[in-house]
Amino acid sequence: MRSFITFVVVFAFLLLGSSLVRAQKADSTDRKWWKEAVVYQLYPRSFKDSDGDGIGDLKGIISKLDYIKSLGVDVVWLNPIYSSPNDDNGYDVSDYRNIMKDFGTMADFDALLKGMHERNIKLVMDLVVNHSSDEHEWFKQSRSSRTSPYREYYHWWNAERGQPPYRYSLFDVKHNAWRYDSLTNAYYLHYFSVKQPDLNWENPKVRHEVYDIMKFWADKGIDGFRLDAFQFAAKDTTFPAFPQGFEKNFTQYYGMQGNLHGYLQEMDKEVLSKYPIMSVAEGAGNTFEDAHNLVDTSRHELNMAYAFDAVDIAKPEGYSLLKFKNVFSRWDSAFAANGWLSVFLANHDQARMVSRFGNDSPQYRDLSSKMLTTFIMTMRGTPYYYNGDELGMTNAGFTKIEDYRDVQTLNEYKRQKSIGADLPQYLKRIGFESRDNGRTPFQWNNTTNAGFTKGTPWIAVNANYKTINAAAQEKSPASTLNYFKKVVKLRKDNLVLVYGKYTLLDASNPDTYSYTRELNGKKLLIMLNFRDKIANAQTGINVSNAKVLIGNYENPSKNGTLKPYEAVVYEL
Ligand code: NOJ
Repeated sequence: MRSFITFVVVFAFLLLGSSLVRAQKADSTDRKWWKEAVVYQLYPRSFKDSDGDGIGDLKGIISKLDYIKSLGVDVVWLNPIYSSPNDDNGYDVSDYRNIMKDFGTMADFDALLKGMHERNIKLVMDLVVNHSSDEHEWFKQSRSSRTSPYREYYHWWNAERGQPPYRYSLFDVKHNAWRYDSLTNAYYLHYFSVKQPDLNWENPKVRHEVYDIMKFWADKGIDGFRLDAFQFAAKDTTFPAFPQGFEKNFTQYYGMQGNLHGYLQEMDKEVLSKYPIMSVAEGAGNTFEDAHNLVDTSRHELNMAYAFDAVDIAKPEGYSLLKFKNVFSRWDSAFAANGWLSVFLANHDQARMVSRFGNDSPQYRDLSSKMLTTFIMTMRGTPYYYNGDELGMTNAGFTKIEDYRDVQTLNEYKRQKSIGADLPQYLKRIGFESRDNGRTPFQWNNTTNAGFTKGTPWIAVNANYKTINAAAQEKSPASTLNYFKKVVKLRKDNLVLVYGKYTLLDASNPDTYSYTRELNGKKLLIMLNFRDKIANAQTGINVSNAKVLIGNYENPSKNGTLKPYEAVVYEL
């Protein structure tokens, strides 16, 4: 009898469970853990230093796992932690199966992964395989002789053929992606810095080396890969001449070339399909079709696209909200039925979110950070949230070139100097947009160096750490940090925010951004004021009786009149 009752109870639970899942199931979209996740991007060099050398490390991250857990995020994307001479802060890998000395050891990595998994946090690794470091063994061999078995691992142009057709380099002092190497009288290709030679993906040996590396990490149990600069990996290796000035639109010439999709399909077959892991490639080509082809499930390539159209909008002179709304709305509609996107406003290659898209003045920093966070967490697509933005960390405020560490910023300075450009103007520009703005140490508390290190930090701590830091914000219920936690929880509790249909309202309003999200009879309205003044949203929806799910003011608007940088989410 007792076992019969148990059977009935278990059966009833199963039935209830499955109908709940059915009730939650999105109309047109398959449920996947990586769609429902909130990704927290962690820049290891600047997160937490455990040994006093001034550089963040894995043990430091381990010591902060409870903090990460407290945020409510479920995935961490870690920027590269492999062995590297650090020309580009780890994006120049010299050994893909080892940990960078500055960051610790493989035992530290194993402990980190274990600690994350114990807390139900997944780990996504950066995979940098458009290029390696010039100090990688492959490149050392490759450059040693024209007959080396590794020669074809990279792109070489023998000098007796004359000068190679111009290729633009993003980080080179002369913007020239070909570097002459006298050892074998040939040029090698580097789209990024001279110490980042591009790998030759046409060579099956290279591709299989990469798949083996991926398996090595996937077998350790990591949960995903972010493929760095992968849209550039395939090249037309006949190296035709490009039209003059092509560099102004270089992604049209560099992105999604040759057999890139074929390589991704092979990668899926060899690695990705064999593990329960997620995949995202940096850059999504030049058209929606390119982006779709990357993530259309029937093509078996990647899980989600990560496109730059939106983050490219912010300029020192400001940006148009109409353009911003247009970009996000176009991307959403292009992916409404098919494919999946990432949603982000910052990463380690951008200056700080609040300084670029919000308002980092003392009066509005907190409010505008919260507003932007509300935006990220209420859009369709997986949110990628950059560490420190949950505190409303701001641009660095550097004024001298000596303050900067980033290879791109420093090499461009040399170039500007060499062409006699207006250097104070350049310093002003990088004050707004240099990547180092987003790389200053995480502000843990108000002790020396913001509690990041007991040594000398590799890059200066932002002077505002005494007021903007995690310890102070943890204690204050209304802080930027606590708001972030609430809005993450709101997303996790409301599947409509993940899968729900997005509809833009009041499209031509230059000051406010309003939209609804709808799923299975549930409808939310999000209203955001992007200005430092009162603005009226004309949504045509009466919110006077709507339930406020979250807002960044104590008394949220009940009539469409939004206070400066106000954000409100209503349930209708
Ligand atoms: C994109 C990365 O996000 C960036 O930090 C890096 O410098 C380049 N790719 C080159 O790897």
